[in-house]
Amino acid sequence: MSQFPKLAVLVSGKGSNLQSIIDHVEAGKLKAQICIVISDKTDANALKIAQAANLRTSVVKPQDFQNKDDFDRELLTQIDSAGGQWIVLAGFMRILGKDFLARFTHKIMNIHPSLLPSYPGLKAIQKAFQNKEKVTGVTVHYVDEGVDTGQIIAQEKVPITDQDTLETLEKKIHQVEHQIYPKAIQKVLWDE
Ligand code: GRF
Repeated sequence: MSQFPKLAVLVSGKGSNLQSIIDHVEAGKLKAQICIVISDKTDANALKIAQAANLRTSVVKPQDFQNKDDFDRELLTQIDSAGGQWIVLAGFMRILGKDFLARFTHKIMNIHPSLLPSYPGLKAIQKAFQNKEKVTGVTVHYVDEGVDTGQIIAQEKVPITDQDTLETLEKKIHQVEHQIYPKAIQKVLWDE
């Protein structure tokens, strides 16, 4: 186990992608070690998921810092202290600063619920649905300074049918996310 690459997972919310990453690690399908889960919110359900899996957790809240650079520095301190080699954003709702990104160039991944470059940013599923798209999807990408603009690692299409409601579409997208993200992480860690 200890020879596996160490992942720091950053979360803000529900944690369903974290859960699927944990499941894939435990099943031996994702050969990685989750060394820390960091949340920017005390009440994130993702923290409960991490604790239930006996993972190291930490809360780093922006309001506890004078500015964004200090917040980013604390994140880096926590990641370094846990030995994190890769950073996986799983519903983490913050933009990482230049210095942070420079420390982990091409080592930070994110998952986004659209076929980027379409619908970057917030409410991506809703926007695709409201625009009556016939197809949307999921993208795993490296993180750069922009909002969901980094190099694409993997994408999968999700059709929007006439029967879909926003809720059914969200469900389909999340199901795809839970498969594509652990697979993409495994590929990046071991094939590249
Ligand atoms: C996912 O839809 C992901 O694509 C987006 O944020 C959501 C996180 O969901 N970046 P969860 O917290 O993993 O359940």
